Amino acid sequence: MNHFVFKEKELYCEDVPLRTIAEAVGTPCYIYSAATLLRHFKAFDGAFSGIRHLTCFSMKSNSNLAVIRLFASEGGGVDIVSGGELYRALKAGVCPDKIVYSGVGKTADDLASALEAGILMFNLESYQEMSTLNEAALRKGRKAPVAFRVNPDVDPKTHPYISTGLKKNKFGIGITEAVSYYKAASELGGLHIAGVSCHIGSQLTMVSPFVDALKKVKDLLGALEDEGIKIQILDIGGGLGITYNLEEPPHPGEYADAVKRELSSMNLTLVLEPGRVLVGNAGVLVTKVLYTKKTASKDFFIVDAAMNDLVRPSLYDSYHAIVPLRDPGRDKIKADIVGPICESGDFFARDREIENMRPGEYAAIMSAGAYGFSMSSNYNSRPRPAEVLVKGNEYHVIRARETFEDLVRGETIPRFLLER
Ligand SMILES: Cc1ncc(COP(=O)(O)O)c(C=O)c1O
Repeated sequence: MNHFVFKEKELYCEDVPLRTIAEAVGTPCYIYSAATLLRHFKAFDGAFSGIRHLTCFSMKSNSNLAVIRLFASEGGGVDIVSGGELYRALKAGVCPDKIVYSGVGKTADDLASALEAGILMFNLESYQEMSTLNEAALRKGRKAPVAFRVNPDVDPKTHPYISTGLKKNKFGIGITEAVSYYKAASELGGLHIAGVSCHIGSQLTMVSPFVDALKKVKDLLGALEDEGIKIQILDIGGGLGITYNLEEPPHPGEYADAVKRELSSMNLTLVLEPGRVLVGNAGVLVTKVLYTKKTASKDFFIVDAAMNDLVRPSLYDSYHAIVPLRDPGRDKIKADIVGPICESGDFFARDREIENMRPGEYAAIMSAGAYGFSMSSNYNSRPRPAEVLVKGNEYHVIRARETFEDLVRGETIPRFLLER
């Protein structure tokens, strides 16, 4: 069941009209549905039932404490990529032994904090990172559990900016060199070899690249076994796509079946790092039409949200459906839906057939729950929007709208400028 639905021509999130929230909280604001988040988690995690696994929400896609907490309450862990994400995860109540740490450039300080916290696994990406972690572990008298993130050189057939498993990408270590990395790690006193990890990209709409990558990883697991290197955890990353427009990505069940087929004979714990598939279609960005404008060549709806709030259309040219909160399906016009920022790249849709909206009307930018708020910025000194979580007929502000004071927090004017 979809929890963003029109009831008598009014768009609801669960049992709350989006307009009620927009009027109370102001716009732009992100609105998430707790029932949808939960349904997505259960569909994904449940698809892997029958094999030992841990679903580690890739919190870069949506790092609000309440969202992380919701998944943690269902037994989920998280995939983190920074010290800041570790801080958030612990604050949200995630068990440290359900945290995996990915990323190509982890700092010594961040590695040390994660070691101190006692996380499940570090997914290493270079020799230098390996020795930095080893030194930190030796200093603390600990053994850090590690995997190497391998790059299988598989084309995920997605946007080039979110392809990560091709050999030209900065991520991971070449899968053909992996055995020597593992041998080197096994000789270091501060490391304990725990797993192998692999993540080939995001918004994948086919199962076949995942399977191709898994086959290569299986060969590696065999080669490691031949060397007497024991692997307990296989982390296959995230990447399962969602429907923004016409895409038909595999259902989590189909993805899970393909993974299970490949791994049937293996005695491993599987770690999964889904992001977008859990949160993408569980959130919308609500905005208000400020002005309508007709030029010699185009119609524009100028809305109060902008690329700083949701950068995906500007960054990836990605599609988001946009609907007015009331009276869908009325007369349409072809228009660009744009924000107030001083960049021509500040758009949410171009040449879109859309209901002819009036100034003051609200609209929802759909499928905005992943890589929405978490990629937002303060560009043009715009306070970032509020975030709201709906549960049934209640709603909760889970992040207050930023204020102008928030914008300048931490900034100071040096005395020499004040004295002039
Ligand atoms: C290492 C890693 N794991 C998981 C993810 C989550 O990907 P997605 O949101 O497509 O599931 C990413 C996204 O970039 C990633 O880099």
